Amino acid sequence: MNNRLNQVRVESKKHYDIMLEHNKLGVLAKVVSQGYNSNRALLIVDEWVHHYHRDWVVKNLNNHFNYLSTYVVPSGEKSKNMTQFGRLLSWVLEQPVERNTPILVMGGGVVGDLGGFVAASALRGMPLIHIPTTLLAMVDSSIGGKTGINHTSGKNVIGAFYQPEIVFSDTQFLQTLPQKEWMNGLSEILKYGFIKDPDIFSLIDQAFTKENSKNPEKWSEIIHRSAQIKAEIVSEDTLEKGIREYLNFGHTFGHAIENIADYGTFSHGEAVFAGMYAACLASEMFLGNQVDKSILHDYAKHHHFSLQSLRNRIPELISQMQKDKKVKNQHIRLVLLNAIGVPVGFTVEKPDVLKPIWQNTIAYFN
Ligand SMILES: NC(=O)c1ccc[n+]([C@@H]2O[C@H](COP(=O)([O-])OP(=O)(O)OC[C@H]3O[C@@H](n4cnc5c(N)ncnc54)[C@H](O)[C@@H]3O)[C@@H](O)[C@H]2O)c1
Repeated sequence: MNNRLNQVRVESKKHYDIMLEHNKLGVLAKVVSQGYNSNRALLIVDEWVHHYHRDWVVKNLNNHFNYLSTYVVPSGEKSKNMTQFGRLLSWVLEQPVERNTPILVMGGGVVGDLGGFVAASALRGMPLIHIPTTLLAMVDSSIGGKTGINHTSGKNVIGAFYQPEIVFSDTQFLQTLPQKEWMNGLSEILKYGFIKDPDIFSLIDQAFTKENSKNPEKWSEIIHRSAQIKAEIVSEDTLEKGIREYLNFGHTFGHAIENIADYGTFSHGEAVFAGMYAACLASEMFLGNQVDKSILHDYAKHHHFSLQSLRNRIPELISQMQKDKKVKNQHIRLVLLNAIGVPVGFTVEKPDVLKPIWQNTIAYFN
């Protein structure tokens, strides 16, 4: 683990660095063009990122690549599908590329997952450079090598583990990130506080003061610490056979909320936020561990949303949890806390025990 503030190392079978900079895209372009001895590159970019940052991006990349072809991916989860994947693959294969031509994938988790899977598949694997542009992608989705797309049978069910060569987070991108997208990243950062490092809670408090709330530079320390935590976990368990499940804290409850309420009613961040509250309650009820939820109380005040529409739908929420990808031998699998920073896997033998957890959670988010 490299502890310089702007760099984190992921120690999987293949090592790669996560670089964290502000307004330094040209540095990345230089590193990549020299590292791959390539004056050509492909850029797969999110529609809104292209809209806001096109001139800055092109100026920085054009200085280092003679040939740069760009594919703009329509914004939103719906782009993570077979059609878009097929179009992108055809586009890559029509370009004058070789196996070592780097593919720069610039966007949030949607474009990261989709573009990463394209890089994994074209010519049996081309160098993938992740350039995450949302807070969530910087602290979570660009790290760890999960790539893929959705299918009518489920979310993220087609894909591959494919590690990038570099993850380059430039906080310059965060300047245009819409308000509602910050919550998605924030929930994952809070999750790192619960499962690994409660000190992150005070960092968030400092960054979230009125003056700093959207100042990307103030977020650097939090992004760095979060990336470090994710890197530590995925380095130890690249293929999700053990401790990587801790990253799922709050998510089994959260996915049920997202599903039952129809995707889009609640953001992923809101659903996971409520899911973490439920997981804290479950830790108290099933393990007898008191968990300090005050950080959730604080942020619930600032980011108000109501779960009241789900009040009569608890049986559906529970049966949705039984369909979760993480179910083992038909039993719901939860990540609970022995204490803050000490997560533990827990198998739910009788789903009905979840009823009071849901009742209390829904009552809390009124
Ligand atoms: N691979 C993993 O390990 C992993 C982990 C968590 C989540 N995910 C996936 O990530 C996806 C969610 O990612 P997300 O929250 O980043 O959403 P997203 O990629 O849809 O981006 C959110 C929105 O912000 C816009 N946007 C992106 N960057 C911007 C910028 N700098 N300025 C202005 N607008 C910008 C996008 O166009 C989009 O409308 C989901 O598909 C989820 O499954 C993957």
